[in-house]
Amino acid sequence: MYSEKVMDHFQHPRNVGEIEDASGVGTVGNAKCGDIMRMFLDIDDETHIIKECKFKTFGCGAAVATSSMATEMVKGKTIEEAMQITNKAVMEALDGLPPVKVHCSLLAEEAIHAALWDYAQKHNIVIEGLDKPKSDISEGEEEEEY
Ligand code: FES
Repeated sequence: MYSEKVMDHFQHPRNVGEIEDASGVGTVGNAKCGDIMRMFLDIDDETHIIKECKFKTFGCGAAVATSSMATEMVKGKTIEEAMQITNKAVMEALDGLPPVKVHCSLLAEEAIHAALWDYAQKHNIVIEGLDKPKSDISEGEEEEEY
């Protein structure tokens, strides 16, 4: 059912954790299943290159695997390049997901966008093609560990 790459990233997820004083943080939730993902970015203010990317996901195996792969893909990219990373690209990099799990991969794309949105707000910049994330649930949320 799952590709070897999905299993690898699920069993050995890359870049799990938090970045202290991250330049951008985005938290998104999947309304279908209630799963949650938080993405932390450390962005160079001059070059706009994403130096570090970490995540925490409270979710299914496909969500963990796509988060892990997405962080690998985002690291070293510029903001503009990171904007091109779609859930489709992440799924392709994982050699596909079963159709019923495609929605899980959306969390990673949305979390990247939410973290970039947070960065843009803090630095008063406009990122082309980036709208306010619909599912960013970080506003007003209680601080809780998950
Ligand atoms: Fe919730 Fe996969 S079932 S993200």
